[in-house]
Amino acid sequence: MTLRSRIIGIGSFLPAHISTNDDMAKIVDTSDEWIVERTGIRVRHFADENMSSSVMAVKAAEQALNSAGLTGDDLDLIVLGTVTPDKTFPATAAYVQAGLGMKHGCAFDVVAACSGFLYALKTADNMLRLGQAKTALVVGVETLSKITDFKDRNTCVLFGDGAGCVILKAEEAAGTSADRGVLDTLIYSDGSYAPELCSTGGPSTNHDVGYITMNGREVFRHAAVNMAEVSAEILQKNGVSLDEVDWLVPHQANIRILEATAKRLGIPMEKVISTVDLHANTSAASIPLALAEGVKNGKIKEGQLLLLPGMGAGFTWGASLIRL
Ligand code: ACO
Repeated sequence: MTLRSRIIGIGSFLPAHISTNDDMAKIVDTSDEWIVERTGIRVRHFADENMSSSVMAVKAAEQALNSAGLTGDDLDLIVLGTVTPDKTFPATAAYVQAGLGMKHGCAFDVVAACSGFLYALKTADNMLRLGQAKTALVVGVETLSKITDFKDRNTCVLFGDGAGCVILKAEEAAGTSADRGVLDTLIYSDGSYAPELCSTGGPSTNHDVGYITMNGREVFRHAAVNMAEVSAEILQKNGVSLDEVDWLVPHQANIRILEATAKRLGIPMEKVISTVDLHANTSAASIPLALAEGVKNGKIKEGQLLLLPGMGAGFTWGASLIRL
């Protein structure tokens, strides 16, 4: 017997304001045709001035707690992935903890950009399997619109805001790939690529929050390779064949990255959950948002095997293998 972290609740939140590609074409020199052809993005959600990352995370968490039949008081761990915290400190997870009325356990953030949810998931899963917590909230949330340069057409059309989360509960299981729960998560980073995708600011460099800046081609080149390689590695490590995977739920950066990853891995696009057209790139929120959407629209079902690869600034990348 072994301890597994089973997903007992899923939640998501998207701010009400939707910006279309035509709306973006009113502020920068771009077009619906260019954005759809190069990225697959059609719309994105933007948080308004008063909506912080923690506000969105609390809304997603309330939905997940509700679906699990729990309250905030039942949680003893919150791990939250974001690069758009409410404040430089304390952790955005602390505001979420307060917002959920949870007064015990611990709550903290991880910073791994678009891999943030996978890093948070691995951290929480490890703590649950070591018996250091029993019920965890794992959140990916971003208000990227607040660090987007809306004068830069190279970046501003790519990103959106949102929050997604899961509730994990430690349960005894057989220790095989037939178990329900997080079967494994691999995470990697290579900091030598930090300049390729980063914020132009930070408290200890220039006292500024900064804007997103990136070398799009370099990111593109690495994204599909890294996501496909780490996906193949996690399958092999766990003795699972690609045919056994019901759904690929990848980080949603760009439809061409999704297609290239699927092709390299050898999985048909019919088995790929894609929400990039509706959400754009929501960084740490994108994987849990795609998972929530897949479950909501009835594609992803209980007991199915899911493969979740991601890649982001750092560079960071990783994959999680989960039986729902
Ligand atoms: N509208 C119109 N034209 C544009 C726009 C725009 N929004 N943005 C760039 N262009 C122009 C460029 O200026 C360039 O013009 P030029 O040839 O006159 O210089 C032309 O389009 C081609 O630019 P490229 O950068 O070569 O276009 P490319 O086909 O590489 O697509 C893109 C750019 C979509 C950014 C692509 O490189 C990409 O998807 N990269 C991955 C980046 C990404 O998803 N980052 C997210 C964070 S990381 C992650 O999530 C994995």
